[in-house]
Amino acid sequence: MTVIDPNSVPKMTLATGEQIPCIGMGTFGSDRYGAEEVSAAVAGAIRCGYRMFDCASVYGNEDLIGKVFAEAFAEGAVKREELFIISKVWNDMHGKGDILLSCAKTLKDLQLDYLDAYFVHWPFANYHAPGCSGDSRNPDSKPFCVDDFMLVWRQMERLHDMGLVRNLGMSNMTIPKLEAVLPLCRIKPTLIEMELHPAFQQPELFRYCVERGLQPVGFCPIGSPNRPDRDKAEGDVVDTAMPAVEAAAKAHGVHPALICLKWAVQNGQIPIPFSVHEKNYVSNLQCVTEDPLTDEEMEAIRLADENCRLVKGQVFLWPGATDWRALWDENGVITQ
Ligand SMILES: NC(=O)c1ccc[n+]([C@@H]2O[C@H](COP(=O)([O-])OP(=O)(O)OC[C@H]3O[C@@H](n4cnc5c(N)ncnc54)[C@H](OP(=O)(O)O)[C@@H]3O)[C@@H](O)[C@H]2O)c1
Repeated sequence: MTVIDPNSVPKMTLATGEQIPCIGMGTFGSDRYGAEEVSAAVAGAIRCGYRMFDCASVYGNEDLIGKVFAEAFAEGAVKREELFIISKVWNDMHGKGDILLSCAKTLKDLQLDYLDAYFVHWPFANYHAPGCSGDSRNPDSKPFCVDDFMLVWRQMERLHDMGLVRNLGMSNMTIPKLEAVLPLCRIKPTLIEMELHPAFQQPELFRYCVERGLQPVGFCPIGSPNRPDRDKAEGDVVDTAMPAVEAAAKAHGVHPALICLKWAVQNGQIPIPFSVHEKNYVSNLQCVTEDPLTDEEMEAIRLADENCRLVKGQVFLWPGATDWRALWDENGVITQ
């Protein structure tokens, strides 16, 4: 296996001053890859030099990934303090007392005594079963509510106070939702997960977060070619086939997926690409250590933005809401 020296991987600096790798590995099997395959990839990734992992309870594989971490520490492949491990609380655990329970379960499964970052996965308690179809709806779903979100956030803050989680994060937020909740946070988030890839660059949200010291972590950085069927729609752009991406791939002699990752890191987000294939996850890490894109290539990709959201989230819609755009506050106000 090709081993990439973790010291050669550029670092990002969080608002706290803490340094973290500019790239991590995703662990969502997209309802296609089982926990065994994903955890085997994590084992390989640690050995090839990855030092950041994006986990979540809903991915259904934290127990097997925990075994991999424990083995890696026991063998001396890596030390705990060298890893940056993220997890997220799922939407069915937003009630009073639930956040502590959820975090405790994640810590037990991952066999850790602290997380480097803990995220609120979605900003509402709307729950769908893993593996559900795109037209499934939960009649209990409700629109975003500041008070409900802050009930969750206060519990997140207590986890931080207890030292169980070192950074707090939000995910799948919008500017109107951030405007409503950030002033109320006693402990501000330092990281934010959002969908980011050449065809969906979210420049306003990105800038808003950076200006407020929230480091963007980009999910679906390659355009998630194997995403669940519920997240596939007619007209979705294929990032790896975008002319600006293909042209750069040709110029650098690499797969277009690697151009998406170089672009992400040079643009200032932390991409968290997923693959169970060693060849792919090794090259994903290696590509950010060498042969950067030129300013012209960066600009060509910036101009190629198609505003094409892939994870539309329609399964979280509440009764009465029919269009997935309602989840993303496209009118500049929180949609009720
Ligand atoms: N916060 C959230 O709500 C949220 C939502 C979605 C995702 N995420 C996180 O983001 C991570 C990444 O998102 P994602 O998995 O949907 O999308 P992605 O990383 O954009 O795409 C993953 C797919 O790209 C292919 N791929 C990876 N490296 C490649 C390479 N070098 N060459 C060619 N193909 C390559 C893989 O196929 P092969 O398997 O065939 O290699 C894999 O199935 C997830 O695993 C998860 O941790 C978070």
